[in-house]
Amino acid sequence: FLVNINGTLLKGPEAKISVFDRGFLYGDSVYEATRTFNKRPFRIDQHIDRLFLSAEKISLEPTYSKEVILSEVLKTIEAAPFKDATIRIVLTRGTNSDLGLDPALSGPNNLVVFTKEIKPNPAWWITDGVSMIFFQKKIEASGSLPKTGNYQENILANREATSRGAYDSFMINTHGHVTEGTTSNAWVIKNNILFTPPLADGVLDGLTRKALLEMAKRQMLPLPLVEKSLTKDDFLSADECFITSTTRNVVPVTKIESHLIGNGKPGALTLKLLELYLEFVK
Ligand code: PDD
Repeated sequence: FLVNINGTLLKGPEAKISVFDRGFLYGDSVYEATRTFNKRPFRIDQHIDRLFLSAEKISLEPTYSKEVILSEVLKTIEAAPFKDATIRIVLTRGTNSDLGLDPALSGPNNLVVFTKEIKPNPAWWITDGVSMIFFQKKIEASGSLPKTGNYQENILANREATSRGAYDSFMINTHGHVTEGTTSNAWVIKNNILFTPPLADGVLDGLTRKALLEMAKRQMLPLPLVEKSLTKDDFLSADECFITSTTRNVVPVTKIESHLIGNGKPGALTLKLLELYLEFVK
């Protein structure tokens, strides 16, 4: 790990932040996870824009400009020896002068940029695919979600999955619609149509998702793409299923609960979409 705290580059173990930081105290922060391909950051402007949109949704007024955040990210990438790296940008509301929720207690934001070498996806994700379970969310959420430092429900959903031997959970909102994975967007293919839940169902505006929507618009996909609310049954009866995230690209899902998806092997269209996606973004 190489870590940049408020402009200072530090090795992982030396990187420390105050215990009065509001991200630590209350999860009062926003974050982004992106990556580099051969030192080139992936859609970094879109990631910084999304960071600011998340901040706006929780009334966190950035004391850093987009330009400064971009230059700190680039400085960190430059200083690190990694070609393909994960980049995490964390912006907290700041360090409190006393305990208390009032944002007026906070000093300026803390900006932390982490970078770490990215490992290639495990080969079995492509040969076998991953398995998922369903997780019922309790917190009502609608509209495009902010990416904040409070991932409690997602952590519970992921824990539940791993404790049951699955890779992750597809989360279900309080209206019974499948929204997304705990750190990924959700997709199914049925009768040669690609479906993904709409942002309005309480979904993060994922940038991998956005790239696939862009490809569909430019007629670069081998099948039509439809944004539509989806139920558990839509997932269980799908011909193919996959998840997407910036760091993992497209990952085939071959089992949900105890049901095999399609023939239980990664779908041909899913693998084609992975190939087309990588060509598009690399
Ligand atoms: N997470 N949904 C949620 C809840 C996420 O946390 C993420 C990303 C995504 C996918 O978005 P994108 O395509 O922009 O990566 C969807 C990252 C990987 C993380 O938290 O590490």
